[in-house]
Amino acid sequence: MKIKLFKSQKISWKLTIYYATIFSLVLMMLSASVLYGIRLYLINQAINKAMDTSNSIIERINGSTGEQMSLDDPELFAAEQDSTISARIVNSKKIMINSLNKFNWSKLQILADNSVKKTEIDKLHLVVANRQILNRDKVIAYLQVVVNMNKEYVFLEALFVLMACADLVGIAISLFAGYLMSRRMLYPIDRITRAAQSISVHDLNRRIEVSQTDDELSRLAKTFNEMIERLHLSFEKQKQFVSDASHELRTPISVILGYIGLIDRWGKEDTDVLHESINAIKNESIGMMELIEKLLFLAKGDSGNQKLKIHEFSFNELIDEVGKESELISQKHLIQYTSVGEISLLADRKMIKQMLRALIDNSVKFTPENGSITLLAYSNNNSVNINIKDTGIGIPSQEVIRIFDRFYRTDKARAKETGGSGLGLAIVKWIVDAHKGKIAVESNIGEGTNITVELPQLMNYKAET
Ligand SMILES: Nc1ncnc2c1ncn2[C@@H]1O[C@H](COP(=O)(O)OP(=O)(O)OP(=O)(O)O)[C@@H](O)[C@H]1O
Ligand SMILES: [Mg+2]
Repeated sequence: MKIKLFKSQKISWKLTIYYATIFSLVLMMLSASVLYGIRLYLINQAINKAMDTSNSIIERINGSTGEQMSLDDPELFAAEQDSTISARIVNSKKIMINSLNKFNWSKLQILADNSVKKTEIDKLHLVVANRQILNRDKVIAYLQVVVNMNKEYVFLEALFVLMACADLVGIAISLFAGYLMSRRMLYPIDRITRAAQSISVHDLNRRIEVSQTDDELSRLAKTFNEMIERLHLSFEKQKQFVSDASHELRTPISVILGYIGLIDRWGKEDTDVLHESINAIKNESIGMMELIEKLLFLAKGDSGNQKLKIHEFSFNELIDEVGKESELISQKHLIQYTSVGEISLLADRKMIKQMLRALIDNSVKFTPENGSITLLAYSNNNSVNINIKDTGIGIPSQEVIRIFDRFYRTDKARAKETGGSGLGLAIVKWIVDAHKGKIAVESNIGEGTNITVELPQLMNYKAET
């Protein structure tokens, strides 16, 4: 039990780790894209700021907004109040002639073009805008505007730490909640496992509780219960079969023992008693032998060891053979047998003969002397039909469905004198089923019984034989 529970816990751990990994990946991807988006936005802002500042300085130099200012005029940058912005002007010989705010310009190269880009110098995050200052289309100097983005990067770092913490908390929660949830979901499996372990052969009427919800687990429980139900039924049948078989075998053995006692006491001197006893013992032994053969047939059928030996044969010949034998055995009945047209059948000949013999044997047994028994065979729509009709005592309609049950006899008292064990029709049914055929019974009390067997003529048995 411990091993089983550990196994199911392993599944819940697997599920937890699986879902927590997916959840964490999604969480981290989300955080990373948020951080990346904010960073892009902030850099864009800084670029705009650098461009705006450089534009307004150049406007002031060109005098497009008022009085034209000279390149080295200290008032040129007076309008720029933002402490994160630095600027400088260098002349065409790359000598700095004006600047705004203190900045270590030595590390920053001035580019002789109009460009703006984000750069990093000595852990300083900067956006640098380079502009050419023109006079009559000739470059006379260069303007460089630098926006220090360190505050933004401090904010981004803080945001990163915050998000990482939130992610860690999220992962921990997802692990915990995932474990609890998967344990909860898999709990019914533990329950089914425990219930299955507690069901034994002596306890087959126990069932697993099925929850109301129609989910996979309740279906599993239902299927399990159905399986136990089937096992229970077949186990009960088997038990009944064994007890009936033992009972059937006990009677002839008691009779044999009775006669042996008789011989022991008087048979040694009295030859009549001796002969009677030997006869009775012989008959009982033959009966017992027949019974054991029938039991063995059914047992082999149950275990799947009863193999069919399929080949094609003439059904007309088989009908003649069985008919003649029946005439010989039972001369007190009028037996007629006919087969219409040429009928060939692909089947196990020996078994089909056994089936016909069992059916005729019943008709003979349950039809009074001088009654008639008719055997008719014909083929119809790729199937062979065999009709066995008698003018016997008939079967009560409510018992017709039970006559194929093992050991079932409609009239127990009469059975004693007819000597049947109630296995003949069970064997017939097995043979018909094995040949994928059908059997139908029509019977009226006092009028007779009509049994029809329909066998497929060209059945493909390859898979089964
Ligand atoms: N043709 C029939 N007419 C009347 N009753 C029948 C007929 N065939 C079968 N039955 C009834 O069905 C019961 C079961 O038949 P089944 O052949 O299985 O057993 P059985 O003939 O009694 O014994 P066994 O065939 O094992 O020697 C019979 O006992 C009988 O009551
Ligand atoms: Mg019989």
